[in-house]
Amino acid sequence: MSKIELIITNNYEEMSQKAADIFINLLKKKPNSVLGLATGSTPIGLYKILIKKNKSKEISFKDVITYNLDEYCNIPKNHEQSYFTYMNKNLFAHIDINKDNTHLPLGEGDSKLNSEKYENELNKIKIDIQLLGVGSNGHIGFNEPGTDFDLGVHEVNLTENTIKDNARFFENDISKVPKKAITMGIKNILNAETIILIANGKNKANAIKNIMSGIIDKNIPASALNLHKGKVYVIVDKDAASMI
Ligand code: F6R
Repeated sequence: MSKIELIITNNYEEMSQKAADIFINLLKKKPNSVLGLATGSTPIGLYKILIKKNKSKEISFKDVITYNLDEYCNIPKNHEQSYFTYMNKNLFAHIDINKDNTHLPLGEGDSKLNSEKYENELNKIKIDIQLLGVGSNGHIGFNEPGTDFDLGVHEVNLTENTIKDNARFFENDISKVPKKAITMGIKNILNAETIILIANGKNKANAIKNIMSGIIDKNIPASALNLHKGKVYVIVDKDAASMI
């Protein structure tokens, strides 16, 4: 069985609060923390709580450094659906972070060079907490099923499943969804001191069941969390826990 700590909450708000509590405790203890951040629908509630706590001065991001998991390729950095835009809109613009301390892989230009550059940056630091969502197919970052666990930052072809899942951000038009992305590899994710995976909704239940079964299988990328040497929290709502 997995040594992952599973926290089942009643709803999305509680899931967000539990995850936020762990970040808040860390930031109070270590104001110059290095945070690994994720995009997507799942972290929005958590980011809202962190913004509130920053506005009320309970926590500061003044000395915090962030590294994001991934970015779409072949859309401009300022595209309204880029992860660069997402992070500014949903977190960075509302907190006292120094923008120079925020990092995302670059999706425009030569992906091989961009991947090498991000890999070199990551190799110089240690992430205190890495936040993850999970795809309905078990992906973490954009490490799709079948990805080798020892890959570093790399370009990926998104699977049809992920393109369909993400079409909701692109007017439900599959043709508008980028087909490639740059992502931290599972090796980079497992380097973090602590990992927090959050998930809500029935469409995540199968992925959560697989992680919690303790299986280690490259066709279920999130199952790599069972290899992590440090602390892993899986924080889910009732629906995402419904198949355990
Ligand atoms: C986002 C990321 C993805 C998402 C996953 C779930 O940076 O790396 O793995 O976490 O696709 O997305 P949502 O939260 O939209 O269901």
